[in-house]
Amino acid sequence: MYYSDDLIEEIRSRNDITDVISDYVKLKKKGNTYFGLCPFHNEKSPSFSVNGQRQIFHCFGCGEGGNVYSFIMKYENFTFPEAVRFLAQRAGMELPKMEYSPEERKKSDLKTALLEINKETAKYFFRLLKSEKGGQAYQYLRGRGLSDETIVKFGLGYSQKYRDDLYRYLKEKGYHDDILKESGLFTYSERGVYDKFINRVMFPIMDINNKVIGFGGRVMGEGEPKYLNSPETVLFDKSRNLYGMNYARTSKKNSLLICEGYMDVIALHQAGFSNAVASLGTAFTQRQCLLMKRYTETVYLTYDSDTAGTRAALRAVPMLREAGLSAKVIYMKPYKDPDEFIKNLGADAYEERIQNARNSFLFEIDQLMEGVHLEDPDQKAGVYTEIARRLLEFEDELERNVYIDAVSHEYQIPKESLTKSISRQAYTYATREGKTTSNQEHRTSKEKKTDAKKGILQAQKILITWILEEPSLLDKISPVINQNDFSEPVYNKVAELLFEQIRNHDINPAKIINHFESEEEHREVSALFNMPLRQEMSPTEREKALNDTVRKIKKNSLENRSRKAADVKELQEIIKEQQALKSVHIHL
Ligand code: UTP
Ligand code: MN
Repeated sequence: MYYSDDLIEEIRSRNDITDVISDYVKLKKKGNTYFGLCPFHNEKSPSFSVNGQRQIFHCFGCGEGGNVYSFIMKYENFTFPEAVRFLAQRAGMELPKMEYSPEERKKSDLKTALLEINKETAKYFFRLLKSEKGGQAYQYLRGRGLSDETIVKFGLGYSQKYRDDLYRYLKEKGYHDDILKESGLFTYSERGVYDKFINRVMFPIMDINNKVIGFGGRVMGEGEPKYLNSPETVLFDKSRNLYGMNYARTSKKNSLLICEGYMDVIALHQAGFSNAVASLGTAFTQRQCLLMKRYTETVYLTYDSDTAGTRAALRAVPMLREAGLSAKVIYMKPYKDPDEFIKNLGADAYEERIQNARNSFLFEIDQLMEGVHLEDPDQKAGVYTEIARRLLEFEDELERNVYIDAVSHEYQIPKESLTKSISRQAYTYATREGKTTSNQEHRTSKEKKTDAKKGILQAQKILITWILEEPSLLDKISPVINQNDFSEPVYNKVAELLFEQIRNHDINPAKIINHFESEEEHREVSALFNMPLRQEMSPTEREKALNDTVRKIKKNSLENRSRKAADVKELQEIIKEQQALKSVHIHL
């Protein structure tokens, strides 16, 4: 870490978390806490909470949480140093300028180093494309109808035909193998180091903040593989990025166009459809849906018109629906993909296709009906039953009725037989659900054991939240419990820091989060501070609950210690404590 802990804490304290998050999420006050719709998962009623007093956020739905740094890192896809700079600037603070010596550079955060390498690489490929050596590649791209302006906008480039051209270039720039190895740009083998991308036109892949996180490279003309992509690295998570999103996010259109390929995205942007994005040579994911959900409610699938494209669309539709996005499917025939469509028929014709896009549910039914012989009673009954089953999945009755009308009208299925089939299936569905719950009793001892462990962790979490809400408890429980009784390393550290803050009369949960680095830990800590405590207990009930919790934690801690005890003397010590625990009673 390049900034001092004090500076990091000062920047944090000058960025009120409620203010910062309000820039991204609409918040409503409820008691001491603000609530809103969680930007990290799809939900209809708000479970995302921001606590101004504690300066932390926590989502009771998906478990995301942390302080203002965690939020910015997660939302903006920033590294920690980037989040520091962003928030410093937001608070109008000057940061000391950082100069790195080669030694410091080596030590610095891997992500930051990889971002730098990717940027250098993208610049290098771009320069090559415009140089004499890149003549063929440049002609290839122009030949595919891309303007100079488009080439610059997407930073397209060229990788030379030598086996280690980029490697030598970056080595000369002073990068070390231990970092280059992590970049995904090279193959390290016994015979030497090879460039991944040789003699290809290059597509830098940018995240939503225009940072180059990976590359795709296409052969010029025929050849296998047609496209080669960077492997996943610490920077490049294919499942949570979309190609073109850095531009599409600022598009004025209030929808997104999802296509299959890099060239499709580029061709669409060039034709004025600045809302086009693509997944990165991999299957479409739930995370990508959530990323889109941040910017829009409506998406259009504009996949290839072949079987693979149709299948990909059929896979994507339920995921989009699950994420709460309304999806439509664009009909691309007689052309293969948006790139070819626009080249042949132009932007206006494409706009028309957008206007006529098929509702995604009806698209699914279309595909289902494809090849069905309705004159065969078995086939007919089978397909109608399946349609009814799908209609059943609409939870909202009004919505379901709209679709029943549409389906019966479009496919000439009598409405009555559809409704009948739906209610019949609704009944079997309900009874089937009923059966599975009774299976709960047949659990294995292993499952019971993990349940016991969960119970202990739960008790530790509850106690931490409880102490945070009522710091005076610390004195009362400290004869029994100390930080070492918290068995999870993260909980242990949190207990240590929190107890210290309480003793110094300086309670600051958000500062505690500064001590942890990973997103996972930020989530865990925010959960520790946000356990739902039962408010409506009587004083006796509260006292009993506290004693139960404390005893459970201590008992577990003593058991752990006895398992590790080194000699008899220590063991006797532990047994004594176990005896004493039986008569412990904390008075509130
Ligand atoms: P397509 O094969 O549909 O190619 O792959 P395309 O986009 O039409 O490409 P052009 O127009 O021939 O240049 C769609 C996407 O699938 C991934 C790439 O991301 C590509 O953009 N892909 C395809 C690969 O990752 N590897 C391949 O070998 C082929
Ligand atoms: Mn194509």
